[in-house]
Order: sequence, then structure tokens, then C-alpha cells
Amino acid sequence: MTAKIIDGKHFAEDLRGRIAGHVARLKAAHGITPGLAVVIVGEDPASQVYVSSKAKQTAEVGMNSFKHELPADTPEADLLALIQQLNADPAVHGILVQMPVPKHIDPNKVIEAIDPAKDVDCFTPANVGKVQIGLPGPVSCTPLGCLMLLRDELVSLEGKHAVIIGRSNLVGKPMAQLLLRDNCTVTVAHSRTKDLADVVRQADIVVAAVGRPQMIKGDWIKPGAVVVDVGINRIPAPEKGEGKTRLVGDVDTQAAAKVASAITPVPGGVGPMTIACLLANTITTASLMSGLTPPGDLTA
Ligand code: GUN
Repeated sequence: MTAKIIDGKHFAEDLRGRIAGHVARLKAAHGITPGLAVVIVGEDPASQVYVSSKAKQTAEVGMNSFKHELPADTPEADLLALIQQLNADPAVHGILVQMPVPKHIDPNKVIEAIDPAKDVDCFTPANVGKVQIGLPGPVSCTPLGCLMLLRDELVSLEGKHAVIIGRSNLVGKPMAQLLLRDNCTVTVAHSRTKDLADVVRQADIVVAAVGRPQMIKGDWIKPGAVVVDVGINRIPAPEKGEGKTRLVGDVDTQAAAKVASAITPVPGGVGPMTIACLLANTITTASLMSGLTPPGDLTA
């Protein structure tokens, strides 16, 4: 078998097109222009790239984009004061503070300062709880993107055995909740799991989110399984020249693609979905803040 390569870049473009349509309808019918505030503290180059990309895509779908760049030595109290100001601003429907924040700032204090109604990352305890019990609200962006790709590929996830490798608050745990809600049988494996290869061999759906380059081998994949690779790891690529690098996922894609029915590539799989889902969450929060039902195609 040669797996279908799931084109996350194309899916994300299509999703952004639908989001632009929802923005236009919110403006025309309700006079609401959704607004997303992105806050970055410090000059980490990777974070700068992410934040610029988020701001650009926010503007492209017709939303208001508010970018706040603070110096690395910003006192925690100043960041918390900015969050309070954004919480109170009616033009802001979503607030994202790019993580990681500098070491002198407590990320938990930052997360707890964000009004859950504007928490488009779904980091606050209130929104994590809502996902767990199935109430409407924002959903963690990367797991939401994975879910959209899986639903598109499989139509129904009911009764499938999903094995998630990784138990992070950002991906593994919310992914498990979402797949349970879609009636999968869910196993969450992690670094202490015994006989990991045998556990993964039982999976109809594999979600790899461990952050270890090409750790999931081709012979761990059950024939016909669907593989979603969340990993983004930079490894040396001497074949491209001295000192060059390339991006790989957590799965040995080439080997797994010989066995799986479908697989997400790295790059171009899950990655592009994350920012698109951030925009989807901003439509969700803008709708809920205005007493409207969020569009069903943008949420879990
Ligand atoms: N840093 C890396 N990914 C993310 C994300 O999804 N949200 C935030 N706030 N920071 C990040």
C-alpha cells in the first residue's frame, strides 16, 4: 500500500477561505469585525516568525489584527496589565500570548489573566473543562486541526482505535478528549509506556506528538491506519550541504507511507492547520461574545 499524502496546506487554505466568508457575514449581518490580539515578549526568532504569520493571516481573512511586541525584560506586572486592557477592549475577541514567555514571567499567571471568553488558545482551565464536557467554546488549535483532517479523511471516527503518542497539555490531552467525543476508543501513550511499538500496532488512527524525530517506525503501523504527525523537528541534512538542516516529523514518514492508508507530511501537514484553527477559534469567541451560535464547520 502507498498512503495518500494528506495535504494540510491545501486544507488550511480552504478553511481560511471559509473563515473569510464567516467574517464577511459577521460584518454584514451583525456589524462585528472579529479582532485578534497577539502578544510577544522578547526577540526569539522562531516566535517572531510565528507571530508575524499569525498577524498576516488574521488580516488576510478580514479580521482586525492587533500586535503587541514587548521587550524581553518587560516586568510580569506590565504584561498582566496589558492583558487586562485587552480583556476590557470590546474590539478584541481573541488574545494570544506567544509561548514560551521569558523565564522571569510565570506562564500560569499569564494564562489565568486571560478572559476565558477571549482565550483562543484554549489554555485557561475554564476552556479546558468546557472541551472535556462538550460545551461550546474555543478548542486547542493543533488538536482541532488534526481532528478536521481526520474527519475529512475518515468521515466517521466512530469505533476506531486511536493511539496518541504524547500527553502534553497542548496536544496529547486535548486530542484525547476530542477523539473521545467523536466516539473513538482512545489510548494515550507516552515516554513511560511499555512495549510502545505493540501499542501503536493496534491503532486505526495514530497521532504522533512526542517531539522526537522519526521515532515512530514504519513497522509499528497497522496496514491501512491513518497517521497524523504533529512533530516538527529540525535535523542535520548533510546531503543538502555542510551545516544544512531539514524538518522531519515524529514518524518515519517514508516507511510508514508504505503501510498506512493516509499520512500527513512534515512540513505541509498539521503545521498549516494550527494558525487556521486559531482564526477559527476567533470566529467562535466573537460569535459567543455576541450571543450568536458559532459556525459548526469551525469547531469540534
Ligand atoms: N508557542 C508555540 N505554539 C503556540 C501556540 O499554539 N500558542 C501560543 N500561545 N504559543 C505557542
